[in-house]
Formats: sequence, structure tokens, C-alpha cells
Amino acid sequence: MSVEEVREKVRPAFEPDFWERHIVLVHKYCVLLAEKLHADKEVVELAAYLHDYGRVMDPARRDEHQLTGAELAPKVLEGYPEETVRHVQACIRTHRGSVDLKPGTIEAQILANADAMAHLDAVPWFLRLRYAKGESVEEATAWLRQKLERNWTKKLTLPEARKLVRKKHEAAMLLLGGTADSP
Ligand SMILES: [Fe+2]
Ligand SMILES: [Fe+2]
Repeated sequence: MSVEEVREKVRPAFEPDFWERHIVLVHKYCVLLAEKLHADKEVVELAAYLHDYGRVMDPARRDEHQLTGAELAPKVLEGYPEETVRHVQACIRTHRGSVDLKPGTIEAQILANADAMAHLDAVPWFLRLRYAKGESVEEATAWLRQKLERNWTKKLTLPEARKLVRKKHEAAMLLLGGTADSP
């Protein structure tokens, strides 16, 4: 099965907005970083499409979607070598900044970094999602600021990734009322 076939297999599970405003961007940044860092492109592409799959397939366990996503991956990746499947699973398990699991390979690092990079392109969408939950402007802004600050300190570990989004991060912090800590 090709990467494109995997993409088409999982795409219907996602809300169109979630797909276009997040998954597509994570995939784009995964490819970009894999090329820059000479990483395994196939692994990061598969991981990009699958990293939040658990979140949409098992909403009741959304808070541990890094685990449900890894559990679901082998079924989606039928026909792929076991080594590839295991590597994709490892990437999925460590993609979250809010869970203290460190990415163990360059591909896993790329996924976590690309996830954070994608967030910076989706500021209006995140605010809209929080308003839809009934949050005030202040609550939504504070939530997003904390998320982006956590991304910067915990997820954006690759110097190449930080360099690419430093200006966006600083602009977002300025507009959301945070302090841009960008050593
Ligand atoms: Fe996620
Ligand atoms: Fe994500």
C-alpha cells in the first residue's frame, strides 16, 4: 500500500477542517524536515497521517490518543514491513508535548516538531474551536498561548524547525499576550 493509499484510507475519519487545517500541514512540515535532515520520509509521512487518528476513532480516549493511535496503526498499515509499522507507532506515541515521552528517533522528533509547526499556522482555527466550546475570548486566548508556549519549550526541539517558525511564534506570543522566549 502506498502512502497516498494510507492517506485516503484515514482521511474520511477526520472532519474536513481538522484534516485541512492540521493533518495536511503536519504532513507538509514532516516532508520538509525529513528532506532537510535526511530522515526516513516514508515513516514520517505515515506518522503524519496517523498521529491523530486515535483521537477521531476513539474520542472517549482522546486524552491518550497517542496510545490509541499507535494501537490502530498496524491495521491501517497492513502489508508494511513490521519494522516500518513499529517505527510509525513509536513516532505516534511521542508526538505530544503535554505527555512526558521523549521522541527516540529523528523521525519521531520530526513528527513532534511538525505538529507544533502546524499549530502556528492555525491560530484562528484554534480560537474558533475554543469559542465553539463556549470559552470567552480571554479563556480561548490563554489556552492557546499556553499550548504554543509548551510547543516552543517541549516540542520544537530541532534547531531547523525553530528557525523556520521563530518569527511566527514570536508574532503569535505578541498577539496572544505572552512572552516570546526564543533563545
Ligand atoms: Fe495529537
Ligand atoms: Fe496533531
